[in-house]
Amino acid sequence: MNERMNIVVVGHVDHGKSTLIGRLLADTGSLPIGKLDQIKRTCEINSKPFEYAFLLDALIDEQAQGITIDTARIFFKSQKREYIIIDAPGHIEFLKNMISGAARAEAAILLIDAAEGIAENSKRHAFMLSMLGIKQVAIVVNKMDLVYYSQEIYHKIKDEYTSFLKNISIAPIDFIPVSSKNGINITEHSKEITWYRGKTVIEMMDSFEKQKEAEENNFRMFVQGVYKFTANGDNRRIFAGSVNSGKINLGDEIIFLPSGKISAVKTIEVFNKPAQVSASCGEAIGLTLTTQVYATPSELICKVDEKCPYTTDRFRANIFWMGKKALIKEKKYKLKIGTNKVDVVVNKIESVLDASILEKSEKRNEVRRNEVAQCVFQTVKPISFDTIDEITSTSRFVIVDEYDIAGGGIITHAFEQEKSNEIPPGYHSFEIELKNLINKHFPHVNAKPLMEAISPFLSKELEL
Ligand code: GTP
Ligand code: MG
Repeated sequence: MNERMNIVVVGHVDHGKSTLIGRLLADTGSLPIGKLDQIKRTCEINSKPFEYAFLLDALIDEQAQGITIDTARIFFKSQKREYIIIDAPGHIEFLKNMISGAARAEAAILLIDAAEGIAENSKRHAFMLSMLGIKQVAIVVNKMDLVYYSQEIYHKIKDEYTSFLKNISIAPIDFIPVSSKNGINITEHSKEITWYRGKTVIEMMDSFEKQKEAEENNFRMFVQGVYKFTANGDNRRIFAGSVNSGKINLGDEIIFLPSGKISAVKTIEVFNKPAQVSASCGEAIGLTLTTQVYATPSELICKVDEKCPYTTDRFRANIFWMGKKALIKEKKYKLKIGTNKVDVVVNKIESVLDASILEKSEKRNEVRRNEVAQCVFQTVKPISFDTIDEITSTSRFVIVDEYDIAGGGIITHAFEQEKSNEIPPGYHSFEIELKNLINKHFPHVNAKPLMEAISPFLSKELEL
């Protein structure tokens, strides 16, 4: 059982996220022996009612004893696989983490308090998930005990929320009525809710599909650092980074974008381990190459015989703004995508949505805190990226305003670079353009042998 899945739990304050997670730990037997009783006893001694949420706090305190839990991530196992649960108490924090890549969720559980109903944040959270491209979302209607397990109330919430979700293009995987407090429909059905015989929460989690595409996708790796071996006249350079998607093998021909420099993989180094013949998504590696290449951290390494990312200076994106100051049209910000940092302005604010009420307003010159907007961005020089429907990790970016992450987004569309008479130095080599052309017009042709045949002539041309 090696499969691991990252799941985020979101929901309005007090709707029961920590209780549900505590229950999942307890009911799947993931707690250290005696832990539950010990906490219940402590509560009794202090005449305090026991809460499953206390389990999380207690485990956090005991991290030193080798229990794998921290404030943001909780680990546990079902019969099928391991889970990393990301508790997202503040959606702004979570959003920051998601878009900066600190947390990565493959699926989400969204909690709604049955007694309180759909809160503003229930909508905002769903919107946020859709913005982040998290497509597997299950809705847990919690605290069913407080509404006497009423089927009617459950269906009212389900219907209302389903039609809201439709508007933002989320098709929920499932709705589950539960009581986290009483352990109903978490790992077992119960006599309290006889009218529901769908999946329990754990069954629903096990039915989430693992995103396989990350490994099967085109290879992408942002260069994080370039290091030189200095010992014994060794003059190799090593390009270090974490594989964003796909797989790389010894001998693969690679291209650095946007510079367009080409070489091939000589070795794949891994810290404190023997060198490898291949590496895939998620691994932190260092590449040495067969030829001397001067590339800088910030470039995106791709494989020559795979589909290239876009390299351009204009794109459309969905952004979520959380800066104290509004995002202003034509003001200069820093855009960070992978390890690449570049100056950027917003050319056009096409539409703005209030994330809670989803009220759309057009013709705006600014995007305010907690608003979601569709904008056209222009960078000072071309950058390389993918769009969200192709590869998520190379289509996410953050916007920095005066050293703070003020917004984050997802690129949905790349515009062709506007033609100008000036050829930007170092960018858009003939090779990239040619390869893009081949891929575009002859999608079934393997560009590699063609490129190999033409490349010497092009290099000559470039030297002139
Ligand atoms: P924050 O972390 O503050 O956002 O809250 P949370 O979503 O983690 O909520 P938490 O799990 O701390 O639960 C909040 C309160 O709701 C606690 O007092 C729980 O005991 C209570 N609660 C959670 N689930 C249930 C439930 O199924 N039924 C009832 N009656 N109470 C519940
Ligand atoms: Mg909590």
